[in-house]
Amino acid sequence: MARLQNKVALVTGASSGIGRATAKLFAAEGAKVVVGARRQAELDSLVAEITAAGGQAVALAGDVQHEDYNQALVALAVEHFGRLDIAFNNAGTLGEAGPSTGVSEAGWANTLAVNLTGPFLGAKHQIGQMVKNGGGSVVFTSTFVGHTFAFPGLAAYAASKSGLIGLTQALAAEFGPQGVRVNAVLPGAVETEMYHAANDTAEKRDWVNNAHALRRAGQPEELARAVLYLASDDSSFVTGTAQLVDGGISITRS
Ligand SMILES: NC(=O)c1ccc[n+]([C@@H]2O[C@H](COP(=O)([O-])OP(=O)(O)OC[C@H]3O[C@@H](n4cnc5c(N)ncnc54)[C@H](OP(=O)(O)O)[C@@H]3O)[C@@H](O)[C@H]2O)c1
Repeated sequence: MARLQNKVALVTGASSGIGRATAKLFAAEGAKVVVGARRQAELDSLVAEITAAGGQAVALAGDVQHEDYNQALVALAVEHFGRLDIAFNNAGTLGEAGPSTGVSEAGWANTLAVNLTGPFLGAKHQIGQMVKNGGGSVVFTSTFVGHTFAFPGLAAYAASKSGLIGLTQALAAEFGPQGVRVNAVLPGAVETEMYHAANDTAEKRDWVNNAHALRRAGQPEELARAVLYLASDDSSFVTGTAQLVDGGISITRS
């Protein structure tokens, strides 16, 4: 039987990369899926792909920084599919990179808004809905950057993504009694638009790929399978974790 039969799932950052692969896998596993990101055309093509494969999906474009957008995604899940069981808060930005002594206040604030405040506002509304069904699973996308592996020049990104691990633990403790599990996934480098933006030369790609024990970057589908585990009842006794899915970059400290 499909692993997400009768489940309703919400995925942010679904227009490309890890989020897109995960939305497709969730749908293939029987979930009805609400997908979000800013690019409407990419969301529309994702909905078309899922529908063509026999799944069900609906999209809403917007910016995760804003509480009303997060609220609208949850409302859409309830309107279209009657409930919400799973939320993958995955949208993220690298933000302003470079030496930390030069990072602007606005750049810092924007990175925190997209990567940390947005997922918090998402979880706030998602969990409120999930407890009405007796529980659910929330997953955040964190990272190896600055947490398990030194990566100079991405202070705001590292701080925002490490913040998600604290948020994961706080929410898992607070809502465990109501049946809501909350976990974070910590990808290694994954070949997506963000990876290519951050590693725009063959030298940079070789360096980061070789930092992994597996000597390569991951594929979005490899992350999707890990997120499926955290989202599904296969992980029914797993909560408050920071799950490494990182090709071993965390054991090759630089
Ligand atoms: N690739 C890696 O090596 C890697 C490693 C560790 C962690 N991560 C994390 O994985 C997550 C997914 O990234 P990815 O690697 O799959 O890269 P990606 O293909 O660039 O995906 C990023 C997604 O986030 C969405 N997004 C960005 N800012 C947004 C905003 N303000 N509001 C709504 N949506 C927004 C983008 O869609 P729109 O542009 O359409 O809004 C896109 O769907 C991110 O949180 C990233 O930090 C990536």
